Amino acid sequence: MNFAPTLPPGIAFVAVPAGASIKESLLHPEELALLQSTTSEARRIEFARGRVAAHQVLKVLNVGPSPILRIFGTRLPAWPSGVVGSLSHCPLGAVAIGAGENQVEAVGIDVEQERRVRPKLMEKIATTFEKSWVQSGDIISLFSAKECIYKALFPLVRAPLGFRDVEIEPDSSTRLPEWKFRARLLRAYGTKFQLGTSFLIHCLRSPEAKLQSGGSLLSICYILRRK
Ligand SMILES: CC(C)(COP(=O)(O)OP(=O)(O)OC[C@H]1O[C@@H](n2cnc3c(N)ncnc32)[C@H](O)[C@@H]1OP(=O)(O)O)[C@@H](O)C(=O)NCCC(=O)NCCS
Repeated sequence: MNFAPTLPPGIAFVAVPAGASIKESLLHPEELALLQSTTSEARRIEFARGRVAAHQVLKVLNVGPSPILRIFGTRLPAWPSGVVGSLSHCPLGAVAIGAGENQVEAVGIDVEQERRVRPKLMEKIATTFEKSWVQSGDIISLFSAKECIYKALFPLVRAPLGFRDVEIEPDSSTRLPEWKFRARLLRAYGTKFQLGTSFLIHCLRSPEAKLQSGGSLLSICYILRRK
């Protein structure tokens, strides 16, 4: 998971690949407590990698060590005051992103292991327009783009958003190896985001993906604060 996304200054990104030796002892006791009822070893490891990536993001931002707990009654990560962040994990590793909330209003991140997906996924998540340009073998990048938009916006609105409430199209600012997608809301989302609001998404494939199947795919979305 050797990603190098191009991001504006002030936005910190960290990836922790599955090969890194991560021990639960690196977590804060309050974070370990969140794992109390989790018996799946794979889930515990992914959680630990996600928290370690988030801690490293705080370090890059010069924010003192702090546990990343959950906002009460939700799975939403509770970042320290003054920080917006997002994290994601898959069997190949974990990624986290964060920034000061005086500069950035929201960030969303998603990492997926490239895999064959059931053809039904296209029906579930794609609009008619998206079906006209997404190749069926690459539905995972559409899925990931929508997940990262949701993860950026949900903390601000706290309401459901359907996969077909957002439409994605390739953006002409793409400079490989980083794809840019433009996401547009097909309905108003809360009072904050009107119908037609659009967001840019950065999408990268890990270089390992060229060498072997089953690499990973990263999607990032950020909303800069208007001055
Ligand atoms: C919330 C959701 C996006 C999380 O995805 P996931 O499959 O668990 O996988 P990821 O590894 O990418 O993300 C997990 C992390 O996201 C964070 N998270 C969980 N719920 C979240 C939410 N509602 N908003 C933002 N972040 C969230 C947590 O930090 C979580 O990790 P943790 O449990 O270890 O703390 C997904 O489960 C979901 O509900 N999707 C359906 C809705 C959707 O995507 N709609 C798209 C509309 S365009």
